Amino acid sequence: MKYKNNRLTIDGINVDFLANKFSTPIYCYSFKKLKENILNFKKNFKKINPLICFAVKSNSNIKILKEISKFNFGADVVSGGELMMALKAGIKPKKIVFSGVGKTSSEIEFAIDKDILLINAESKSEILEIERIARSKKRTVSIGIRLNPNTDAKTINQISTGKKENKFGVDEKTFLRLVDYIKNSRNLNLKCLSVHIGSQILDHKPYEKMLKVVSKTIQKSQYKFEYIDLGGGMGIDYMHNNKKLNLKKYSQSIKKILNKNYSKIIFEPGRSIIGNTAILITKILYIKEGFKKDFIILDAGMNDLIRPALYNAKHKILASKNKKEISKKTYEFVGPICESTDKFSTIKKFQKLKEKDFVVICDVGAYGTSLSSNYNVRPKAIELMIKSSKIQIINKRQKLSELM
Ligand code: LLP
Repeated sequence: MKYKNNRLTIDGINVDFLANKFSTPIYCYSFKKLKENILNFKKNFKKINPLICFAVKSNSNIKILKEISKFNFGADVVSGGELMMALKAGIKPKKIVFSGVGKTSSEIEFAIDKDILLINAESKSEILEIERIARSKKRTVSIGIRLNPNTDAKTINQISTGKKENKFGVDEKTFLRLVDYIKNSRNLNLKCLSVHIGSQILDHKPYEKMLKVVSKTIQKSQYKFEYIDLGGGMGIDYMHNNKKLNLKKYSQSIKKILNKNYSKIIFEPGRSIIGNTAILITKILYIKEGFKKDFIILDAGMNDLIRPALYNAKHKILASKNKKEISKKTYEFVGPICESTDKFSTIKKFQKLKEKDFVVICDVGAYGTSLSSNYNVRPKAIELMIKSSKIQIINKRQKLSELM
């Protein structure tokens, strides 16, 4: 993203041009940025040589999954649908892990039939169900158990997953009991300890704490795990002020704390791979003058991007034309949806805007389209990708007729 002659561009292509050609709202991805993130992730964790399983929930566009799979990535899936999508994108079953607290019997069956790398189980009941299905198929199934390390990830509360009050994983005591149970099972092969403490984590210290709990639990279990799956959660720089997780430091902590285990490390990153690769281009429909603030009413709403409404998440907003004149009024950027939480940001001292101008909402690649909906019977936005200076349509704009 750069201003060239005061016009915002993405990988050299003018945002206004895209908006006029394809109409708005538009999700537009940069392949260049995606590649950069992938290579950067690999470089930082090179010494660990992990299996990297992209968290499909963060973005399940099949064209994006295909691009990611070319870099030798696997996938972390949380439903039969995501598993099907990952396979369809060409990701090898032996590089797929299946997480989630509520896998149905048919989803488990599907995963077993496809012979994926691991089903990461999250409760005793789920383990018994996997065992029952495996037995009926006369199979031995590779599984992991998700440990709840009771570690505060110090992130947004709604996306924290590793504390004991969260529904995810099992506590240490249960974990150790389950290890003993599985050791004697003919149909289960325990290969992995998995853990994931939350998302958008900016400090490596919670990870360090988590690693210490993992290390202690492994010692207590006296079990040799082939894999340790550390989940995802690596935070990105939404505010463009250089506050993001230091991957190098995290990597060093892993080497230090888990050194003696010789297990293969698995990561499940979503946001750190795809988050900052996309913008949402939207048009100002109206400017409604208020008493102390003006409402900038956009043609993108919370159905297109729900993160601000759901988690009070912050995304930078930029105008497509860079102008010097600053508005005296505060701007509140809102969508057209009939809900007061349909609001993206409130900004003081923004450059002066006018109706029909285009603005972009930044860093929407992760949990943008994957969390989008048809609320208010609004069709989903078109998705574009810029690759080698070419514009590719990677998802057509939904037609209203498809929704009728
Ligand atoms: N692995 C597991 C088991 C997870 O639950 C998640 C995310 C990930 C990996 C990927 O985490 P990431 O690297 O993307 O942080 N919708 C929220 C985020 C929810 C995250 C859910 N789990 C948001 O928009 O911020």
